[in-house]
Amino acid sequence: MRHFLDLSSAGSEGMAAILAEALDRKQARAGWPKGKVDADRPLDGRVLAMIFEKSSTRTRVSFDMAIRQLGGSSIILDSGTTQLGRGETIADTARVLSRYVDAIMIRTDDPAKLDELARHATVPVINGLTDRSHPCQIAADLLTAIEKGVQLPGSKWAWLGDGNNVLHSIVEAAGMFQFSVGIGCPEGYDPEDSFVREANARLARSNARVTIERDPVRAAADADVVVTDTWVSMGQPNSADKIAAMTPYQVNAALMTHAKPAATFLHCLPAHRGEEATDEILDGNQSAIWEEAENRLHAQKAILLWCFGLIHNDGTN
Ligand code: CP
Ligand code: NVA
Repeated sequence: MRHFLDLSSAGSEGMAAILAEALDRKQARAGWPKGKVDADRPLDGRVLAMIFEKSSTRTRVSFDMAIRQLGGSSIILDSGTTQLGRGETIADTARVLSRYVDAIMIRTDDPAKLDELARHATVPVINGLTDRSHPCQIAADLLTAIEKGVQLPGSKWAWLGDGNNVLHSIVEAAGMFQFSVGIGCPEGYDPEDSFVREANARLARSNARVTIERDPVRAAADADVVVTDTWVSMGQPNSADKIAAMTPYQVNAALMTHAKPAATFLHCLPAHRGEEATDEILDGNQSAIWEEAENRLHAQKAILLWCFGLIHNDGTN
């Protein structure tokens, strides 16, 4: 029984196996109707419960389709319409849900709630985003970069904007897959230092580094992958000061010229068009945002299988 709480839950070998599994399964069902179950029905009869304490389009639909394509089914729970919303503890909810379902995914604010759920559940728990990290998103981003021909070790990723949950998971991935991240963000909006320190410790014997740059051009310089996200994440205050501070870090055609000519642009979505990225970039020919959104489905199928110990060569079996 394994929880997927961050990319480090799977480790480098586990993540490599997850990405390989995702690519294989994606290729094996190319062109099929989306609701058709994979030939081997690996999660036949399994049920995934999903708890949403924040809004979601992609995570909700891609996990629902992921478990269906693996032969299982899902139950979607909004905290507002369950007893969680009336104060039943996460621990008790974990104990009860573990009696009904085979795995639980949660999207919540405080990462302590995710940890509490994992401590008390007797079935796998998956992080569907917290204020601290978004590992399922970065599994999809890694998959998309690989499909675009990026060799992860030694590549350079540029992050422009807020030092948020999505960036934390990218920085974690950098340490695991030995790539550089140039983080272009204004003072006061840096990522948590612990993520940067840990990644750089893992990169110590490589030429790759995670660096914080105040100059967006330095962050974007020679990047293979350029990534941004909303300037104001769910649950954060939206202030004019923050928007003003973020404005120089917008991904636009001028900034994109500093990346490699074949650089891939990623955004986890939803986008605030005209803020963190212009339409020209979001809809341009370097953008892989729709493939990236699709890859949430393929990556999460492999994550679900990893949780059930059904992926081979993942460093443990
Ligand atoms: N990228 C992402 O997690 O999207 P949703 O908020 O729509 O799930
Ligand atoms: N950083 C964003 C990601 C949304 C998928 C947020 O937390 O709102």
